[in-house]
Amino acid sequence: MPRLKVIGGNVLTGEVAASGAKNAVLPLLAATLMMDGHSTLTNVPNLMDVNIMIKMLNALGVRAEYHRGHVKVANLKKVRHIAPYELVTAMRASFFVAGPLVAKTGYAKVPLPGGCSIGSRPIDIHLKGFECLGITHKIEHGFVELRAKKIIGNTVYMDFPSVGATENVMMAASLGEGTTIIENAAREPEVWDVGQFLVGAGARIEGLGTSTIVIEGVPTLQGHEHPTISDRVEAGTLLIAAAMTKGDITVTHVVPEHLEPLLQKLKASGMEITVNETSIRARYVGVLKAVDIETQPFPGFPTDMQAQMMALQIIADGTSVVTENIFENRFMHAHELLRMGANIRIHNGAAYVTGVPRLSGAEVKITDLRAGAALILAGLAAEGETIVHGLQHLRRGYDDFPGKLRTLGAHIIE
Ligand code: UD1
Repeated sequence: MPRLKVIGGNVLTGEVAASGAKNAVLPLLAATLMMDGHSTLTNVPNLMDVNIMIKMLNALGVRAEYHRGHVKVANLKKVRHIAPYELVTAMRASFFVAGPLVAKTGYAKVPLPGGCSIGSRPIDIHLKGFECLGITHKIEHGFVELRAKKIIGNTVYMDFPSVGATENVMMAASLGEGTTIIENAAREPEVWDVGQFLVGAGARIEGLGTSTIVIEGVPTLQGHEHPTISDRVEAGTLLIAAAMTKGDITVTHVVPEHLEPLLQKLKASGMEITVNETSIRARYVGVLKAVDIETQPFPGFPTDMQAQMMALQIIADGTSVVTENIFENRFMHAHELLRMGANIRIHNGAAYVTGVPRLSGAEVKITDLRAGAALILAGLAAEGETIVHGLQHLRRGYDDFPGKLRTLGAHIIE
């Protein structure tokens, strides 16, 4: 199994560019199923998950190719209806093809994506949203079958502002008839980016970035070129690396407003944060203080940054309470951090983290993508060697994370 070795103790300094956002590019790729002709996505990160989505498009009869940060898609023939089991089960986000497929062809058969290590992750909100638009579903033999003679605009109230359900419903409604209003929509920047891609293709969408999105259906969407927004989670992880190594890191190619919830916490920890138009500098200037973290939908503190922020709390001064509200099982990294000498107690859905003066390198195992980043961050701050197993999880969603850290001075051997 792939693993890497982190030799802790180096102070990280310098400048590094954020890649395109994983959570934007996956639904963007799915949306090309609905767009006639040629589409090009730029600023695409080189990730295992992107590779899986490209395989999915090809399996559905759309030609898609990755080359040096671009994906070119040619949607010239009839799109197929059935999403392969091995691709959907390899990556939950493959379920993003459901909305585009049923909108484009009137029928989709997609395997149930199932849960993952951070939680059960049902799809009821997606299905309820589809139903409001006249898309019926049947679940049988592990597949969801979706059917719609035509998609009819309606008001869709999201019981929870699910990112994936908002994107799926928005995509499907774009090729519907009449007006769809999504209430309690997710406000994440990645939802905005998918909306912008659709608008560029001819969709009529208003209210992106707010909790009410209004979509006027159009009969067709045209392929075009779109730049993927930058990855706020990757950028945030690199800024935390500055704090953990008493360093000074500038991350470029970012949209600073997208990182506001994290920047507030880093400032409260005692980091000096300087924001420019498209870059953020984080500089260690003295003792790091513990801060409480509570995950919420955007613009709250992102669940995708919780593990990395917990890694910072294990060396901060004082006790921090980390509350995870989005996923029910997202503290797996805590058990691995304990191996490195962290002081963490989990009780009633919250982690109580008391900072320790030193961490010691250990063998640890990555259980999910962001947990992987947290363990590497802890390794950078620890004394001695940390061997990180389960690297495949990290490669799903970080574009050469070890390489980026090395350019900042980290000692990491792959
Ligand atoms: C997306 C992100 C993921 C991030 C998450 C929350 C992508 C590819 N992934 O995942 O990195 O952690 O947003 O910001 O964009 N839920 C239901 N029923 C549903 C849908 C969701 O109960 O039909 C629950 C989930 O189990 C979870 C919560 O709602 O507890 C949030 O999920 P959601 O916002 O849908 O996350 P994803 O789109 O799966």
